[in-house]
Amino acid sequence: MKEKKDSVQKLFVPDIGGNADIQPYFLASDGEIDKSIIDNLDSDVIILDKDLNIVLMNKSAERTFGVSFHEVKGTNYLALRLRSIEQELARNLNNVLKTKKAFTIKELQIISPDKVTHFFDQSCIPILDGGGVLQGVLSISKDVTKRVYKEIQYQESQKMLKALFQELEVKNTTIRSLQTSLRERYSFHSLIGKSYLMQNIYDLIEKVSQTDSTVLITGETGTGKELVARAIHYNSHRKDYNLVAVNCAALPETLLESELFGHVKGSFTGAIRDKKGKFELADKGTIFLDEIGELSIPTQVKLLRVLQERYIERVGDEKTIKVDIRIIAATNQDILELIEKGTFRKDLFYRLNIISIRLPSLKERTDDIPLLVNHFIEKFNIRFKKNINGISPNALRKLLAYSWPGNIRELEGVIEKAVLLEESETIENIELPTDHSATTNLCLPKPLNAGPDISSYEDLQKRLDMLEREYFVSVFQKHHGRIGSIAACTGLNRRTILNKMKKFSLKKSLFK
Ligand SMILES: Nc1ncnc2c1ncn2[C@@H]1O[C@H](COP(=O)(O)OP(=O)(O)O)[C@@H](O)[C@H]1O
Ligand SMILES: [Mg+2]
Repeated sequence: MKEKKDSVQKLFVPDIGGNADIQPYFLASDGEIDKSIIDNLDSDVIILDKDLNIVLMNKSAERTFGVSFHEVKGTNYLALRLRSIEQELARNLNNVLKTKKAFTIKELQIISPDKVTHFFDQSCIPILDGGGVLQGVLSISKDVTKRVYKEIQYQESQKMLKALFQELEVKNTTIRSLQTSLRERYSFHSLIGKSYLMQNIYDLIEKVSQTDSTVLITGETGTGKELVARAIHYNSHRKDYNLVAVNCAALPETLLESELFGHVKGSFTGAIRDKKGKFELADKGTIFLDEIGELSIPTQVKLLRVLQERYIERVGDEKTIKVDIRIIAATNQDILELIEKGTFRKDLFYRLNIISIRLPSLKERTDDIPLLVNHFIEKFNIRFKKNINGISPNALRKLLAYSWPGNIRELEGVIEKAVLLEESETIENIELPTDHSATTNLCLPKPLNAGPDISSYEDLQKRLDMLEREYFVSVFQKHHGRIGSIAACTGLNRRTILNKMKKFSLKKSLFK
């Protein structure tokens, strides 16, 4: 290239791969290209003549190919196969020869003999003389493998992060929906309780709310029968109309009839004007007939007619009035027993008992007591402007061991009193209606004196059950629920003790 001095002097190494200090270079005074200048570059630089024979090669290229310049000087670049020259690069060089234009390939992928993939930014630049005649090609390659791998890694980690975020989002959604369903199931409308017995009640309420079927709610006093009736009504399509509650035990028979069906003026003494009955008031809504077991037989017959025909007649009137009502009835009595006694009509029972919901007693769901206690503490904190923040473990233990004949209504009353009287921040003192928990000689049954009057055999049975339960509660307390020592103390065998635990819903864990 000696004689091409002028054209080579015009040559500039383009800035590829961010080499800011690349200088234009010149032929040495003897016409040779000064290798020392290009040796300083960290890109591989190879100068080829127009037949693609190697004219010059810098140190970086020597390192890359593992040869010395002197070994390969004058050899054909393509024929030499210094490395597997990719087709793309060969095409690039030929293009330069043909078109006399520079070509660049970004991230040219080259697999080294030891199977490692390298990436090069590769530029092929024509060397022209003053007359524009092609004299050679300058090939500059920069190993950008590290950068490419970093980018690949970056992209991969971005992908992974994205996938992780998506997974997190899915998990979050699941957590949120679980939280929601948990929240729903800790309470339903005004009903509080998370025990499985209450979960079943919530499911049932949800289902029956979607129908117009008559519902019979049974359960001991204070178990929430009225709350369930409300939940059904307010969960149904009738919620924008009236929910009319009638306590069948509260009025004498004649008054109850006029209360339920209405009357016309003059139909009896005191009927000074026409009056709509509860059935009419409940039109398009729901009527809740509480304590249905107290209805007299004649009123039962009339009710049966309403259930069958959905028509009513006001007392003293023959005109029939159509009513669109949903009927929910409730009782704490054993209706089958009433039927046997002849005080309740079987046909009415069948009409009412289309769907029956039996509410568990509080004794059956003691695991709900802590939740109910907190609920009532909050309620009475507001009512009494107090700031009680909870209940002591001892006081709670006392509540858990009690038999709760009055169920949630009774618990509510106990907490109301405790909140009102408590002077510290936590409820420490609990006063139970019949408080036998302060027994001293725990292994001796107490005398049968305290408690309500015993006027029937049934009363006696109930009283005996209550006493037996209290006896077992105190024995369990004393022996921290250890069956072995209870057996030793009482002389009862294990099976009897286990049966009593089942009968009285006593859980070992309550006494530990
Ligand atoms: N599951 C419950 N959660 C919260 N409070 C309840 C629950 N069940 C009953 N109560 C409360 O107990 C009291 C008695 O409920 P109620 O529906 O009148 O019982 P029932 O009609 O069975 O005698 C009411 O003050 C009611 O708010
Ligand atoms: Mg009630």
